[in-house]
Formats: sequence, structure tokens, C-alpha cells
Amino acid sequence: MLTISQVLIALVVFLLTMQFLKLQRARRRLPPGPIPLPILGTFLQLNFQFNCDLLMKLAKIHGNVFTLWFGWAPVIILNGFQAVKDGMTTHPEDISGRLVSPFFRAMAKGKGIMLATGHTWKQQRRFALRTLRNLGLGKRGLEHRVQEEACYLVEYFASMKEKPLDPSFPLFHSVSNVICAVVFGHRFSSEDETFHELIKATECIFKFGGSFIHYLYEIFPWLMHHLPGPHKKALSSYDALSSFARREIRRHKERGVRDEPQDFIDFYLAHIEKSKDEPRSTYDDDNLVYSINDLFLGGSETSSTTLNWGLLYMVANPDIQEKVQEELDAVLGPSQLICYEDRRRLPYTNAVVHEVQRFSNIISVGMPRVCVRNTTLLGFPLKKGSIVLPNIASSLYDPEQWETPRQFNPGHFLDKDGNFVSQEAFLPFSIGHRVCLGEHLARTELFIFFASLLRAFTFQLPEGVTKISTEPIFGGTLQPHPYRVCAIPR
Ligand code: HEM
Repeated sequence: MLTISQVLIALVVFLLTMQFLKLQRARRRLPPGPIPLPILGTFLQLNFQFNCDLLMKLAKIHGNVFTLWFGWAPVIILNGFQAVKDGMTTHPEDISGRLVSPFFRAMAKGKGIMLATGHTWKQQRRFALRTLRNLGLGKRGLEHRVQEEACYLVEYFASMKEKPLDPSFPLFHSVSNVICAVVFGHRFSSEDETFHELIKATECIFKFGGSFIHYLYEIFPWLMHHLPGPHKKALSSYDALSSFARREIRRHKERGVRDEPQDFIDFYLAHIEKSKDEPRSTYDDDNLVYSINDLFLGGSETSSTTLNWGLLYMVANPDIQEKVQEELDAVLGPSQLICYEDRRRLPYTNAVVHEVQRFSNIISVGMPRVCVRNTTLLGFPLKKGSIVLPNIASSLYDPEQWETPRQFNPGHFLDKDGNFVSQEAFLPFSIGHRVCLGEHLARTELFIFFASLLRAFTFQLPEGVTKISTEPIFGGTLQPHPYRVCAIPR
């Protein structure tokens, strides 16, 4: 007679075997890759790791289009410039969906821009782009805000009187003030307590992104939902951002609709009113809250982290810093406002800014997309709902595209006469229908902030410090290890 536990074990073994066979059948029609196991997918073969370098190694074994399994879900990885570009642009509309994974759904409920898909995403993204343009994106209006914040930042560094400082907070403060002014209609002072809470919440969310517990949540959401841990903290940090956005919306509503909308919330509230009789309208308070979160999170952490890397690379490469300064001195006056158009007269500085972005590779592996209909991806038929992940880092470090991919080398963006040259494989903002919505703003910010700081100061290590790490800390974005610099006025 079999005992109950023997029956149970036999049942589990039977179910796992069936599942294993089902997975093997499913993988036959997908791009190649490691053999998936029930529940764990391919995590065991990857030693429970997941990063851009590992994906580049796997591409050497399986080719530039391969499949990994996250639990039950196959994920098609695109590796190397050509596969990323062709995969994302041959049928761009077909892979414009976003993977609203369990954790993303717990955060943003499928609303807003970044973590939304389908009709909601289309409406929210289109509206945000149009409104950012109305508020001066791509024109002098928004550039003026960036210049203003760059001046405050220079003043702040000067006030430190050459004392060692960690630049991450002042950089975050200045960069996020640009997007805050656009979205909320006001900037924050550096002492503002609410602002410090927003920064803490942002840090917590980005730290959690891509962590082991994050992956566990994606595979076992029902279990993790009931357990304490960092996932709870990340979710409550996201809720803190949402509560702040709701308070700002309330403030705008209490003030009443203005004749001339001044900020993103004004434009959005007016649009809710205008579209209230449209049956397919997705314009409502919730989508506004999550769009605000997307603009704040997308618009603060990314550009400020890139600038943080920029200063670190300048400290680590004083010869490059000096060359940038020579060019700035030769072309610009000492107090003239720097504008984005000046990059055309400053090819070396422009090349350094690009190289900072390429080499720091802050997004690392990009954000997952989803096929919104049956399609063909680089010769492989994919069903609607298939997940596609472009490995952005593999384009930024592609040995076939860059002379010295693993070295900081501004020459990647210069021809032999010192003119700036764009590179197709430079894809830090991704590519295709969901390319970063803030690309133009980010490029403007990076150039103006970087040039303004290097014109005003030489950055160097505090006395007695000789070593500095340029290795990243892994998380939602790749961060430098905390470091301190002295800003010496020039
Ligand atoms: C150095 C700065 C930045 C980098 C490297 C960066 C990079 C990216 C990347 C790789 C994506 C994913 C695109 C995809 O799904 O393939 C993205 C999406 C997005 N970014 Fe940025 N970004 C930066 C700055 C900004 C700024 C300043 C804003 C705000 C105005 C912003 C707002 C967004 C939004 C809303 C999305 C979601 C787009 C969508 O899903 O349709 N980003 N960004």
C-alpha cells in the first residue's frame, strides 16, 4: 500500500515531468538557449544571476537572438548592436507593448506611461510628448530652466569652498528640479523635507529594481505578497511618490483651471475636462498620478546618475578633463550661458559627454517589451504576448562597433580631424516605438550641466585619497560607488 506522502511525491514528480516535457516542446519554436526547468526556468544554469555581461557571454554560445526562461515565461534576448537595432525597428509597432509584470502591476497598476501598455500607453505617451513640447521641450523655454538649474548648481559647488563633497545629492537636486518645474510648476529648495523624502523613495525603488528579491517577486508574486522584505519597502516608496503626486493634483484643482496652463498638471487637468465625453478616453486622475511618477523617476535618477559618473571619470582621467576645459575656454566666454546648440562648436566636450553615457551604461540591460500581435522577430515567429528584452549594454559595448569598448575613450565620437561623429550603436535611450520619452531633455541637461561645471571647476580627489573605483553598483540603474571630490574654482 502506498502512503499519502508517497502518492504526493509521485504526483509532484509526474507534474514536474509533464511540465518539463511541455517546456521542451514550447522551446522548439523559439530562438535557441539553455534548457529550461519547471518553476526555475533557466535561473539555475545562470547561477541565479542576470546582468548584461552574462547575456553577452550567453550570446557567444547561443547566438545574438536567444531565449531565457524566467520561471514559466520565455524571454527573447537581443544581443549586439545589429540584433538590437533590427529587432526593435523592423516591426516596431509589433513589439511596442510593455511587460506589466507582477511587481510593475503592484506598483503602477498598468497605468501611466512607462509601465502601461496598449491603448492607455499610446494615449498617455502621446499626450506627455505633446505637453512637454508645449512646455518648451526642444525650444528655448525648457533649455532656460536647465541653464537656471546649472547656475544654482555651480553656486552650490562654489559655496563648498573646495571642501570634499559627495556630488550625488546636488546633482540629483538640480536635475530633478528641471522636471519638477515642468510637472508641478515649482522647484524645491535643497532643504525641503518633502524633497528629501522623494529622493529617499526614488533611491529605494531603483535599489530594489533588478535585485534577487525583485526576481523572486516576479516568479512567486502571491507568496511574496504575504512576506515582509525589501519588496514591501519599494512598494511603499512608490506609494509615497503617488501620494505626493495626488497632493500636487489636489493643490492644482483647488487653485482652479488657469486660462494659460503653466505646467504638466494644468495641461492634464484641462485635458481630462476636454475628453470627458470620449468613450475611449484614458485621461483620469490615476493615469495622471502614474504619468507624473514616470516623469519624475525617469527624469531625475537617470540624468543625475550619468552626471555623477561624468565627474568621476573626469577625476579618474585628469588629462581628458583638461582638454575639455581648454576647449570650453577657447570657445565660450567665462560667464556666458551655455546652450545646447553650443555642442556644435564644442566637439571634444560633446564627445566626452557621449562617452560618459556610453561607458557608464546606466540602464545596462534595457526594459522588457511585449509583442502586441503575432509577429516575426529576426526570422523567428513570435506569438502575441511574447517578451523581448533588448540588451542595450551589448550595443554600447559591441566590440564590432567600438574601437576600445571597455575603455573610456572620447575618440569613439571623433573623426581624425577632431570633428564630432554620431555613432549608430550609441543607444542608451533604447530604440523603436518606446524609445526614451525624455531623450531630448536628457541630452540637453547632460550637455549644459557638464559643460557648466567643467568651465567653472576642476574636479579632483580630496587630499590623501589616491584610489577611486569606477566599478558600478548593480540595481535599477548602474550607480558609482559613493565618492567625494573637491571642486576647485578655475
Ligand atoms: C540619461 C538619461 C536617460 C536615459 C539613459 C534614459 C533611458 C531610457 C530607456 C532605456 C528607456 C526604455 C525604453 C524602452 O522601453 O525601450 C526609457 C524610457 C522612458 N524614459 Fe528615459 N532615460 C533618460 C532620461 C529621461 C528623462 C529626462 C525623462 C523625463 C522627461 C525620461 C522619461 C522616460 C519615460 C516616461 C520612459 C517610458 C517610455 C515608454 O515606455 O514609452 N527619461 N528611458
